[in-house]
Formats: sequence, C-alpha cells, structure tokens
Amino acid sequence: MKVLDNIYWVGAIDWSERDFHNFTTHRGLTYNSYLILDEKITLIDGVKHKFVSDQIKRISKHVDPKKIEYVVVNHIEPDHSSGLPEIAKIANPTFICTKKAKEGLEKYYGADWDFKVVKTGEEVSIGENTLTFIETPMLHWPDSMMTWIKEKKILFSMDAFGQHIASNERFDYELGVDTAIYYAKVYYANILMPCSNLVLKLMKILEKYDVKPEVIAPSHGVVWTDTKIVEEYVKWANFESERKAVIVYDTMWHSTEKLAFAIAEGIASTGAKVRMFHVRKDAWADIVTEILDAKAVCIGAPTMHNRVFPPMAGFLTYLEGLRPKNKIGVAFCSYGWGSGAYRDITTSMEKMGWEIEEGLQVQYKPSKEEIEKAYELGISIGKKL
Ligand code: FEO
Repeated sequence: MKVLDNIYWVGAIDWSERDFHNFTTHRGLTYNSYLILDEKITLIDGVKHKFVSDQIKRISKHVDPKKIEYVVVNHIEPDHSSGLPEIAKIANPTFICTKKAKEGLEKYYGADWDFKVVKTGEEVSIGENTLTFIETPMLHWPDSMMTWIKEKKILFSMDAFGQHIASNERFDYELGVDTAIYYAKVYYANILMPCSNLVLKLMKILEKYDVKPEVIAPSHGVVWTDTKIVEEYVKWANFESERKAVIVYDTMWHSTEKLAFAIAEGIASTGAKVRMFHVRKDAWADIVTEILDAKAVCIGAPTMHNRVFPPMAGFLTYLEGLRPKNKIGVAFCSYGWGSGAYRDITTSMEKMGWEIEEGLQVQYKPSKEEIEKAYELGISIGKKL
C-alpha cells in the first residue's frame, strides 16, 4: 500500500487479537511499518514477531529486504520490536533509535547490532528525504521517539495518534474519519491518558521544530490525512469534558445495581448524558474511553470482607494508573455489616485528585426511601454538570 511517493505500508494486520495486555481490542489491531525507497532503503518500525513473515513478504514486493540499510526504531515495546531480530538477521542494517531504545533492545534481544543513537532535532539524510528525530520520553515509554520527513511533510508518530482496529483500509478517509477518531479516543484513553501533560508539551516541541504534518503515520491503525486528530488530542489531553456522567458498578445481590439505575434516572432527568457500565460485563477499555471526557464518575460496589468487591478493586487500580483528571467523583455502595467499599472507592478517587461529592451507602437492600435518595442524588449530580 502506497502512503506517499516511494513510501509504502509494509506492516501486519492482526485480525484475531482481542486482548492487548488487558486492553480489549474488539476489532483486532495492526502493527504498522513503513518502507522508504530512497538512496538508502529505510524501514520505519518493526512488527510483532509472529507477523515478521507478512512484513518481509510485503517488503519483497518493492525491494529485496537484504538491501535495507536503515531501520528506524521509534519505540521498543515488543508489539513493534519483537520482529526486529529477524530483520537484523536478513539485512544487517543500522538501527536508528534513542539511547534508551538501544539499551532496551540489548536487554530484550541481546542485540549486538549496528546502532546509531539520535537525539531530538538530529537529522539523517537518506537521499531525497531527510529524517528528523523528535524524542518523546515517557510518551509512552522512556525510549519513544517520532520521525519527521520535512520534504514529504509526513510524521511517523509511533503509538501516538494510533488506533487499535484491524482493517483493510489504510487511510482515515477510507475507514471514515469519525470512526478513526473514535478508535483513536479508545486508544488514547487506555494508553496515553497518563501522559496527557506530555502530549501538551509535545505540541510545543513539534511547533519548535516546524513539524506541520500533512500526513501522520502511526504505528497502529489507519494513516491520518485529516489532521483534525491533533485538535482532538489537545482536547483529550486537557480533559475537556461534556455534560456526561459515567456510572460504573458491580453488584452481588442487585442492591448496588438498584442504586446505580436510580442514580442514572436522576441524572438523565436533568438532561445530562449517562453511560452505564458493569465492571465484569463491560470491557474496561470501553469504560475508560467514556470516562475520558465525562465530568462526573459514579462508582458503586458492594463490600466484601470489609473491602470493596474485588473486581471493582481491579478496575480502580487500572483507573488510578490512567490518572483521569478534572472529574467529580461519587461513590455508592451496599453492605451487610461493614462498609469498606465506600471508603476504598473514595480513597481511590482522592488519589486521582477528583472533587468528591457525598454519595450513598445502604445496608442489605435499598428501601423505597433509599431508592428515592439515590434518584435525588442523581438529580444533584446532573445539576452540577
Ligand atoms: Fe504499540 Fe507502546 O506499543
């Protein structure tokens, strides 16, 4: 697939993967790699090991893989790097990467390859095209960087601007820009949300190096020709929210669930949007996607052995790691004889720096009056949005 003149997509499509380290990929994913045919044949990024033969077949349609002289490693996470040892065996190229990436490749693969370590702003000419490197440490690994070709105005952005979706469409306009933006949002929420400050800094660095891409080629999903995605990134990184509440709950004997439904009705009665998720029945990837731009997050679970119900504890750990900001948090719980769930949920919300509103806890089963209170709580949350 041609991306631009002499630049081809030579990646892999993983149609059947549904679990990318606990990120539910409902529609699979891709590992993108790009081949640049210039005086020095250059490969941008690798693929997951089990797909190397696909990658090599695709490269072979354009050039003998032995002729690859440079491999740019924008990121060493194994979904991109685990196929590189095979490329090293075939072509013996120079691997261009950051210092941290070199250290990581040596640790992962015992790589005694020819390396060229680069820093931000450094350029490598490959003929008609010049590669400029922009380090993006902790966006989202210490080794991460992006590669810019000023002559073609294309940015190889590695995981940033990526989406987890397997498709035969390679461009945003083929898949549909709105669909691509939705999958980019899911990706952002689950992978890049904790790096939001760095995303905002990145925008300034790109400006400083006059990186104004017309094409953004990430390591996952479709290639962007509509750079509206950059504006979306700025919104997500600033945690811009809409008038929306997300309710996430779990339940043992439907008591917490009854509270969840009553709170939802109360919120909806004020005209605000409500999204409802069951923590064991819905994919966490989908839940945090809705949390990204929600103003209120209501979390409910029963108490078990004086602690929050364990599946919710797992979700809270996931959420704390993603560090969503700018939220109103409300806890609601049912209990039998101890109320640890309410404490555990609010502690978690405090750690994330949320504004906590007083929630609700009921013993055993909510009474008619308590259901009414839950509905009123929903109205109060809705009015705050
Ligand atoms: Fe797609 Fe961070 O690897």
